[in-house]
Amino acid sequence: MLLSLLFLIGSLATTIAISALADSHSDYHEQLLLRPLHPSLLLASFNFQSNTSLTSFNQQNFRYFPRSLGQILQHANTRELHLRFSLGRWDAENWGARPWGGAREGGTGVELWAWVEAETDDEADQRWLTLTNALSGLFCASLNFIDSTRTTRPVVSFHPSGNHSNSTLSNLHLLHGTLPREVVCTENLTPFLKLLPCKGKAGISSLLDGHKLFDASWQSMSIDVRPICSPGADDCQLQITQTIDMVLDLQRSKRPRDNPIPRPVPQEELKCDTSKPYHSDDTCFPLDAASQEEEFSLSHIFGHSLRGTCPLANDGAPSVCINVPHAREVYASEGAREEKDSSGYMRCFQLSPDKDFDMVLPQQEISEKAPLAQPLLYAERSFIGYGQERGGVQAILTNPSPTDAVDFVYMESLPWFMKLYLHTLKAKINGQDKDTIKEMYYRPALDRKRGTQLEVRILIPANSTLVLTYDFEKAILRYTEYPPDANRGFDIAPAVITIGDVSIRTTSLLLPLPTPDFSMPYNVIILTSTVMALSFGFIFNLLVRRFVAMDEADQWDVRAIRLKFAATIRRLARRFKKYEKIQKTE
Ligand SMILES: *[C@@H]1O[C@H](CO)[C@@H](O)[C@H](O)[C@H]1NC(C)=O
Ligand SMILES: *[C@@H]1O[C@H](CO)[C@@H](O)[C@H](O)[C@H]1NC(C)=O
Ligand SMILES: *[C@@H]1O[C@H](CO)[C@@H](O)[C@H](O)[C@H]1NC(C)=O
Ligand SMILES: *[C@@H]1O[C@H](CO)[C@@H](O)[C@H](O)[C@H]1NC(C)=O
Repeated sequence: MLLSLLFLIGSLATTIAISALADSHSDYHEQLLLRPLHPSLLLASFNFQSNTSLTSFNQQNFRYFPRSLGQILQHANTRELHLRFSLGRWDAENWGARPWGGAREGGTGVELWAWVEAETDDEADQRWLTLTNALSGLFCASLNFIDSTRTTRPVVSFHPSGNHSNSTLSNLHLLHGTLPREVVCTENLTPFLKLLPCKGKAGISSLLDGHKLFDASWQSMSIDVRPICSPGADDCQLQITQTIDMVLDLQRSKRPRDNPIPRPVPQEELKCDTSKPYHSDDTCFPLDAASQEEEFSLSHIFGHSLRGTCPLANDGAPSVCINVPHAREVYASEGAREEKDSSGYMRCFQLSPDKDFDMVLPQQEISEKAPLAQPLLYAERSFIGYGQERGGVQAILTNPSPTDAVDFVYMESLPWFMKLYLHTLKAKINGQDKDTIKEMYYRPALDRKRGTQLEVRILIPANSTLVLTYDFEKAILRYTEYPPDANRGFDIAPAVITIGDVSIRTTSLLLPLPTPDFSMPYNVIILTSTVMALSFGFIFNLLVRRFVAMDEADQWDVRAIRLKFAATIRRLARRFKKYEKIQKTE
């Protein structure tokens, strides 16, 4: 009786567990989108997203949410988190709008911003410290170096992207930190992959390989955690979105992996511009944008083919999509179902669960190209001025739209040793500078305590260019404050341009500071040590060493030396006495 009851309970529990799993089938989603940017460049965008009920998350039932990250967020009372790792420069002039419209992008190096729930500012700072230290361990990055001088509290630039209740919202503190110097590398990719439900073993994440990812011309990894409440539903979801975007050079990624050293193209394979007057057998002007589309396949560019699908991601959405004209030939491995959409450019593949998938795009002469989206704003920033003492920064922002004005917030967070002169801040639109700045927030730096924070709201009319300039002074650091490679310069974090809920970044800058000649003390120490060593050795030798002939050497045993020594002392004493006598008689 008892046994059958137990059995009944057991089978009931199993059914519940299975139905819970079946329910959750649509809660994880992954997709790879490929977009050729240029005949020899390819943008690969990986997107992984999962939803977990917030109530079960708070009860430590993490489901698809990575437990390691979940516990850190709970411990640091973090309600919303955005973390970015990026490398390289997005070339907006040639590549068009950024992936995800710029919403999943960060500045060069590491960027982190989060909404932390706390009663006071000090408590928020404590929790931020906990958060950065824990994330630093989780992602093998130097996030723990985000100290008070690198942390800002943006006022107008960032807005929460999740839904927070009104009571929570009043206690949320936004903190933002950047590490422009951090070099993103394979050791950051491994922990990133571990957060995924399929951990890079199956599905599109099986394509991610550090050798290819960090060989890209531009790459960005992002993690976003936010709560989402649909208006009708009674329970909120905690959504985690992880993305990886990279711009791959097709020619370079086709190099064999066991022989990755770039070699010059043989002369007969060079593509030359024969219209140049100087073109001849031994001069070649390389032809850049060939009309031919480069041939490539998934296994070429990622090193191996895609290993099946992730079994948790069966929400029915296709996993691999490519944005090429429908006229372009695409061959996929058997078992994959192709779907073309009505726009004429997008085609997607439903993969079969347990077969490897590969896709080949042969070389093809084709005039039609998938259009590139135009970015909202082109942004560039550079140093102006000269000398070791002062300098200037110039940012040029162009609104390419012929009809729409763009309203944005430009935010700079500068290190304390770059002292901004606010009165030199000028913003000129098409050469004119009357009331271009609508709103400004400025918090000056404190030496060694916090950096400068500057936020300006500007409206650029259609088809106009804004030039923003300001001057600054370079501080002289203490001897120990210089990094080991001080002559390389100091990295200045990118400016963040927030347009609605999208933020784009300029590139980071490299600031040369007045640097003392670090080799000088070293030279002095080396020289003095050499002189001392030489003179010590010489004098010591003179004092101690005795020269004797070879045949005498045997007789020089210890006793003989002692006797001789005693005799010398006695002789000296006698002489001394004699000398005393002479002195007395005088
Ligand atoms: C998560 O929930 C949001 C809002 O309900 C929805 O838009 C999104 O598609 C969901 N994501 C997944 C992977 O189910
Ligand atoms: C939250 O605050 C907004 C604006 O202050 C208000 O419109 C809304 O009704 C509030 N919601 C709740 C649930 O109190
Ligand atoms: C959550 O936010 C979205 C947009 O960010 C909004 O459409 C939705 O109504 C919000 N839900 C609730 C419950 O406030
Ligand atoms: C944009 O501005 C340029 C010069 O400033 C002008 O030549 C061009 O006609 C303008 N385009 C539009 C669509 O107004």
